[in-house]
Amino acid sequence: MQLTPTNVEFIFDYIEDLCGIALDDTKGYLIEARLSPLVKQHALKSPMELIEKAKQPSGEAIRKSLVEAMTTRETFFFRDNSPFEALQFKALPELLDVKVKANNRKLRVWSAAASTGQEACSIGMVICEMIPDMHKWDIQILATDISEDALAKARTGIYTKMEVERGLPKQYVSKYFSPVSGGYKITDSIHRLIRFQQLNLLAPFQFPNLFDIIFCRNVAIYFEKKVKIDLFRRMLKLMPQNGTLFVGASESLFDCGPEFRPMQHCKSTFYQPNLLALPPGTIHTASPTITRPPSPGVPLQTPLKASATSFSSRPVK
Ligand SMILES: C[S@@+](CC[C@H](N)C(=O)[O-])C[C@H]1O[C@@H](n2cnc3c(N)ncnc32)[C@H](O)[C@@H]1O
Repeated sequence: MQLTPTNVEFIFDYIEDLCGIALDDTKGYLIEARLSPLVKQHALKSPMELIEKAKQPSGEAIRKSLVEAMTTRETFFFRDNSPFEALQFKALPELLDVKVKANNRKLRVWSAAASTGQEACSIGMVICEMIPDMHKWDIQILATDISEDALAKARTGIYTKMEVERGLPKQYVSKYFSPVSGGYKITDSIHRLIRFQQLNLLAPFQFPNLFDIIFCRNVAIYFEKKVKIDLFRRMLKLMPQNGTLFVGASESLFDCGPEFRPMQHCKSTFYQPNLLALPPGTIHTASPTITRPPSPGVPLQTPLKASATSFSSRPVK
């Protein structure tokens, strides 16, 4: 069926409303490539009918298959490398030093647009490398994505040989993975840190905690500028003052306003809330600590002693 420019606009407008992916008329070929199989699969006559059905309250299954068809889920372990180096050698040690001083052993991380989970696992491995006494910490990595298919794979923790060989140093494969049928499984000590949840970044989000570290990489590149700015501003409100936000290697937040303070580490830039540019009260200025009234006869929790070498001054292995 020959689609008119108005038809293409109608289809692309709906996809943008559904998941934020903004397509212009040069991407018309995607309708044939990605939507025609869905038209067949749902026994419909045209992409227009597909969209009409998706818009109906009963169109949940079609909406889901549209999301799966239109999203790009490319990812791999330690993608771009330098953000993980910045995490390991700058952002995380500085954060841990502050936490240790405040006797706050809670670490909350969000891998937003986590795809099949390699990013969350990579963060988990970095944390494991940096915190030898992990059992004394309360660490959670929330991995969210709009794609149920991607999350279903992420939840298995199993990756093919090719996926594991792409990006992972050999010593990490032997330390953090075990061979299973079909590939390799990430070790439980990392996998159990991660909670997977379906979440559309366009929708308002609320969490019971702040996030010390947010990775939101290679997803906002598909969004209109105003959607991207709104997303990162909403994320900023979920961070403590020393929280860090990592975006993709080809992305920057320079056009998002002075609220985002760029921090440099070698080849990587990450962002922290710029308190001077934010209205008072936007950012939680005190690093939250767990304060429990002591029970009679029970000694107060032993403060976690700052080790002789702090996290940030530890020699690099
Ligand atoms: C290219 S992958 C990036 C994965 C990982 N962050 C990385 O950099 O390797 C983009 C991911 O964004 C997800 N995505 C696209 N639109 C989304 C939305 N509106 N809300 C949440 N996730 C979305 C896709 O399903 C896909 O898994």
